[in-house]
Amino acid sequence: MRLAVALLCVVGLQAADTVDLASESLIAEGSAQFAKSCAVGYCHGSEGRSARGPALRDRVWDPSELFRVTAEGLPGTSMPGWEDVLTAEAVWAVTAYVMSLSSEPPAGSAAIVELGAAFDSPESPELSAGALRGKQLFFDLTRERRCSVCHQLDGLGTPVGPNLKIAAKGKTPQELESDVLEPHGRIAFGFEQVQVELRSGETLAGVLAEETETHIRVFDAASVPPPLRSFAKADVRRQQTRARSSMPGDLDTVYTSDEIADIATYLSESAGGS
Ligand code: HEC
Repeated sequence: MRLAVALLCVVGLQAADTVDLASESLIAEGSAQFAKSCAVGYCHGSEGRSARGPALRDRVWDPSELFRVTAEGLPGTSMPGWEDVLTAEAVWAVTAYVMSLSSEPPAGSAAIVELGAAFDSPESPELSAGALRGKQLFFDLTRERRCSVCHQLDGLGTPVGPNLKIAAKGKTPQELESDVLEPHGRIAFGFEQVQVELRSGETLAGVLAEETETHIRVFDAASVPPPLRSFAKADVRRQQTRARSSMPGDLDTVYTSDEIADIATYLSESAGGS
């Protein structure tokens, strides 16, 4: 197994035509990616212990099927495909990680699978001039309340709100502009605001990032960027979800309307729209 890990590092996943799902380095990489992309937003939960999406822990999987569903998503459900967002290597890493949580984790030669189903690495589409301006504005470090303090795109930014490469799919620039200007209009599934009342008397509201049997972690929306705060459940008196957005409603004071139009163009083109 040592040897397999070393080989993977030398040849790299793309070049090799098999992958070792029991590789510790691959599982570690998948665990980090899972925490960033799959556990957040109340979907598959910490370590695959279900939140709103199905529990992925303690089940038996066919690795190629798991890879395919992760890459392509499930049409008609809220499970998105990740092939435009993650590299094939990252999807295999997530697959290896979820397999490691399985009730029958693969070992030895059973853990070696053919790469076959791999897709090309995501390439950034060519952006128009307006979209390029929008990209700069989205990540503009001089603005404290820039979009990227709460959203990820192309692997950059912070996952407080939805990954916009996925969320912007199928939306027109006009729809994206109104998402920005009227965040309470339609709340992204899984990102409803959680309100927490602590035994100390403090109350806070924000986005639930993680819930385990003993703890919750919340992006506190009282300030921007929202700090990630952790609380023992024993210290929580009440926890409630409300159909409100944790996205500020006054981002028109951070960006002009022309700038918001450029940002919407950037989101739409990045997500593959016209
Ligand atoms: C303080 C954090 C924060 C900032 C700053 C922020 N957002 Fe959001 N955004 C959120 C959260 C949380 C949601 C999910 C709740 C909702 O749908 O309103 C969201 C939702 C969205 C949605 C809807 C996604 C969907 O799935 O329907 C879009 C589009 C969006 N934001 C774009 C932007 C853009 C563009 C900017 C910068 C101009 C921005 N956001 C700034 C937190 C933020």
